[in-house]
Amino acid sequence: MTQDALINELTAAVERAPQAVELRLHLAELLLQDGQVTEALGHCSAALAQDATNATAVALLQRCSNALTTKADPAPTAAGEGFDWPAAEQQVSHIIEPAFVDSHDRPSALDEADYESVQRSTVRLRDVAGMPEVKKQLELSLLGPISNPEMMKAYKISARGGLLLYGPPGCGKTFLARAISGELGASFLPVGIADVLHRWFGDSERALHEIFETARRNSPCVLFFDEVDALGQRRAALSSQSSLRLVVNTLLAELDSATSSNDGVYVLGATNMPWDVDPALRRPGRFDRMVFVGLPDTDARTEILRSNLRDRPVAGIDLRRLADRTEGLSGADLAHACESATQIALADSLQTGEVRPVGMSDLESALAQIKPSTGPWFDVARNIVEFGNNDGTYDELAKYMRRRKFR
Ligand SMILES: Nc1ncnc2c1ncn2[C@@H]1O[C@H](COP(=O)(O)OP(=O)(O)OP(=O)(O)O)[C@@H](O)[C@H]1O
Ligand SMILES: [Mg+2]
Repeated sequence: MTQDALINELTAAVERAPQAVELRLHLAELLLQDGQVTEALGHCSAALAQDATNATAVALLQRCSNALTTKADPAPTAAGEGFDWPAAEQQVSHIIEPAFVDSHDRPSALDEADYESVQRSTVRLRDVAGMPEVKKQLELSLLGPISNPEMMKAYKISARGGLLLYGPPGCGKTFLARAISGELGASFLPVGIADVLHRWFGDSERALHEIFETARRNSPCVLFFDEVDALGQRRAALSSQSSLRLVVNTLLAELDSATSSNDGVYVLGATNMPWDVDPALRRPGRFDRMVFVGLPDTDARTEILRSNLRDRPVAGIDLRRLADRTEGLSGADLAHACESATQIALADSLQTGEVRPVGMSDLESALAQIKPSTGPWFDVARNIVEFGNNDGTYDELAKYMRRRKFR
């Protein structure tokens, strides 16, 4: 569907359901992207009238007002419209273009059927800040072998099988998967397993088959399965076991054929709960290599903070100092902190009637309210490495937790 058609459809939907705040905000986002700033602004205000503290609406409002200011002044000065990065940060700062554009040039049955759409990633591994160990591992176990097939043959090593990224929530698994597809120059097909199960309930096997077909048609393609644990035994116990079994079997068959043939489909998976993943999915040739993605390090936190503050009016922000004092927070926590800091500055501006940028004090107040959201995850992980690691599957996690004094 084109952007225009989507906007028309959403406009009609919002007219039918004026109380649907999320729908309205989705429309506002599209309008803003489309340069229809005033229209977007109208929907933001309407959304805020219904839900005054809605964080998405507040952020969007801020972006609309930024867009209007930039439009009014087409030649911003070097001082940068209220942006006030410290000089050292400015040097290393780089603009990351929107990471994805839907590839319209390739026909895809899935697009027509409203399945997930094939994307093109412009993110590369170098855009993933910090995390040197993860990158090294990805080079060794995936990127290197794929780009040196002759060497693989010489060493009689098979690059078969999928890679499973695991770790606490909000710490860069999806981002890494995109970076890998960018690195391989491959298209990117993200698939939420829970989504496949719910949206195509009763027809999930066919949906999965279609998804693999689409990946093959768009090869080289990184086929990225998120929430692989949704197919696990524990979840199976909750839902109807037999129908889930069929889906798992379909996935196994498709994985086996995708990873044994040379059709340019690279399968990646991600999960926060590898211990819940169906063991059959972890056998050789399937998701047989696991890479642990831990909390963002200082470099990663600096970049995450930078990208979350990029579209907001800020002044006097010392990213490095913030990164140094946010050890233990996930990417999602950091995004949340930036969101709250913006709300503090905005509330202040609304109250005084004088617009003021987001400053260090706002971020510090916001951070004081935030607890690491990954605490419960590490509590479970602690038990797993202690009592559920007989076969060494979680050695890497155990090492990480020892080093970071998580136990
Ligand atoms: N090393 C990094 N450099 C730059 N940005 C990062 C880095 N790691 C994470 N991010 C950013 O942090 C946010 C959270 O990352 P992402 O969504 O990839 O996490 P996830 O592990 O997939 O989370 P979930 O478990 O909730 O699916 C994203 O906006 C991502 O771009
Ligand atoms: Mg993710």
